[in-house]
Amino acid sequence: MNRRDAITLLGAGAAAAAAGGAPIQAAKAQPRSAAQPPRRHEPRPLPFDPARLNGLSERLISSHWQNNYGGSVTALNMVEARLAAAMADPDFPALIYGDMKREQLHRTGSVVLHELYFGNLGGDGRAAGDVQSALVRAFGSFAAWEAEFRRTAASLAGGSGWCLLALNTHSGALQNYWMWDHMHAPAASIPLLALDMYEHSYHMDYGSAAARYIDAFMRNVNWEEVDRRYARAIRLSAP
Ligand SMILES: [Fe+2]
Repeated sequence: MNRRDAITLLGAGAAAAAAGGAPIQAAKAQPRSAAQPPRRHEPRPLPFDPARLNGLSERLISSHWQNNYGGSVTALNMVEARLAAAMADPDFPALIYGDMKREQLHRTGSVVLHELYFGNLGGDGRAAGDVQSALVRAFGSFAAWEAEFRRTAASLAGGSGWCLLALNTHSGALQNYWMWDHMHAPAASIPLLALDMYEHSYHMDYGSAAARYIDAFMRNVNWEEVDRRYARAIRLSAP
């Protein structure tokens, strides 16, 4: 594949993504020696009834799941199909390959973080379990942890990004992390609680009142799920 073919291929993919079209077919220019097609990503269903959240509307949650998360699943499948086709082509320009690798990183972050986000909603917001005890030990009190988590989230208001409670497996510390985008992940850290601070996650219900969205999010956290993630993170980080 030459550079012109590559650019044409990318352009066609981008147009399909923008139109929200069906997942892309295997690239026409795929060489016979191309690697195995990548595993397709399938959208995970919401683990709760979106009509039953407290202060987050069904319209907002359904649109977020379908358009933002669903769009990233489609785009990730598209870009990974194109990467598989390009992999075996020694003439494929590295410059264009790098663009696709960046898009793969971006979409992988979006898919994983959205699955964590929806996966930690649907609860009653009352913290419990070992993770609560661990947060008290790490921050002095649960209130101190929550205040820092909320402040970190609020710092992203009006823009984009994620606020993440994570176990850093390198230092062993529980930390609230500020992430500017889907690719801005803390090193060696396992996410426990993910809060989407992109405006698309609250604008429909709250306009630009991000603080009210953060209140609503905290009322709906599924702490049982956060506690399961904490137990798994401890197991994975054990020496
Ligand atoms: Fe989102």
